[in-house]
Amino acid sequence: MAADTFAFRGTFFHTPAYGQLEALRDAVVVVQDGKIARVGSSNEEAALMREFGLSEEGQYFVPGFIDTHVHAPQYKFTGTGTDEALMDWLKKYTFPAEGSFRDLDAAHQRYALLVKRFLANGTTTAMYYGSLHLEPNLILVDTIERLGQRAVVGKVNMDRHSPEDYVEATADGIRDAEEFIKYTQGKKCSRIEPCITPRFIPTCTPELMKGLAALALKYGTHIQSHISECCGEVNCVREMHPEYASDAAVFEEMGLLTSKTVMAHGTLLSDADIKHLAARGTAVSHCPLSNFFLGDAFFKVNHAISLGLKVGLGTDVAGGIQPSMLSAQRMAVVNSRCLRAHKLAVSGGTIVTPEMETDVITFKEALWLATVGGAQALNMEDRVGTFAVGKEFDALLVDTTLGGTAGPFDVFEGEDDLQRFEKFINLGDDRNLLEVYVQGKCVKRGDTFELEAAIL
Ligand code: GUN
Ligand code: FE
Repeated sequence: MAADTFAFRGTFFHTPAYGQLEALRDAVVVVQDGKIARVGSSNEEAALMREFGLSEEGQYFVPGFIDTHVHAPQYKFTGTGTDEALMDWLKKYTFPAEGSFRDLDAAHQRYALLVKRFLANGTTTAMYYGSLHLEPNLILVDTIERLGQRAVVGKVNMDRHSPEDYVEATADGIRDAEEFIKYTQGKKCSRIEPCITPRFIPTCTPELMKGLAALALKYGTHIQSHISECCGEVNCVREMHPEYASDAAVFEEMGLLTSKTVMAHGTLLSDADIKHLAARGTAVSHCPLSNFFLGDAFFKVNHAISLGLKVGLGTDVAGGIQPSMLSAQRMAVVNSRCLRAHKLAVSGGTIVTPEMETDVITFKEALWLATVGGAQALNMEDRVGTFAVGKEFDALLVDTTLGGTAGPFDVFEGEDDLQRFEKFINLGDDRNLLEVYVQGKCVKRGDTFELEAAIL
């Protein structure tokens, strides 16, 4: 076996289809140059085995989680500032926090903490918003590269309706966005891709949005923004752009709806909007916990998927107060159950329509959203999301046996591996993650960030 070939043996859980949890038991996944070369049974591959990547009784491999919406500088105040609606929350907490990343020493330290926290929680891929200023975004990219995460990263653009000390001139914003793209693409790091990031319609002039759309086209980049998040935002856009019927119509006109676009939230999208986004191949990042705090409606995951929309899952740190995709999966399930309960309350508590039942998702659909759904949203479905041959090996080695004070839940006699795995999704945390892999490389083992350790 070549030096860069590894075999991982044990039980592998993944979701090849929406709602379908598959267990590959006593399997061997052979990884060559970071990619899955073969998936076979333990017997067939026994001759190849090395003492490497072995899952034991109660330990399972699962695809790494994909967070499709994170504000990197907002990690600093995650878990605080929970008392305001969106527009005031931005002014009071968010813009000052993001602006403070002008201090580049602070940016270095804070971004290392952020990326480590996300890797420790099993987020192998993240779609990040940086901040307005160019330099701290370069530090964010450097940090991701150094610690081994996979990411799509954008410099935030905003040229109006912003604080005096946290706003850019239109031309400067477009120039810096281009600089950022060149810097990121210039690294030739296959794990990191740049992204065009007009913050949201209220803080962007049409000139800025069109200029950024042109850059996305020129460099073939991803695009991310916020769409139809809450009443305050939607009403603001209606006042600013009375000629357009919806946020989606504005983004369409600006050329920002592409097959590489991810729009966050979308709780107030109409069916017509959803069909429009679906026709463009644009995805929505469903951020349930953030929507509970800052949104004004439930995002209807199954309904949106039935209309053909690509849907990924996001934490939306810090609007979402937990930097964990395990939390996001649980919140997606709770969101779907709240949606059903809400409809039941409106119907007087007696009439249950078939649609109410189809609104509900289980942990299996939530895991699909956190892996395959995210991969689809980021146009990485051929690269990550499941343990299929040809994909890159982004995986977590989960230990479900840590009871008592060593772990977040206890296990009991007679539980099968499906029950153990469901307990991990519903109750687990970073203590259950023994190893984290990106592109076949171990980036975290125990308390050690392996790539950082190699550099130091
Ligand atoms: N809309 C514009 N900016 C933001 C942000 O930082 N977070 C959220 N949740 N919504 C936004
Ligand atoms: Fe957001």
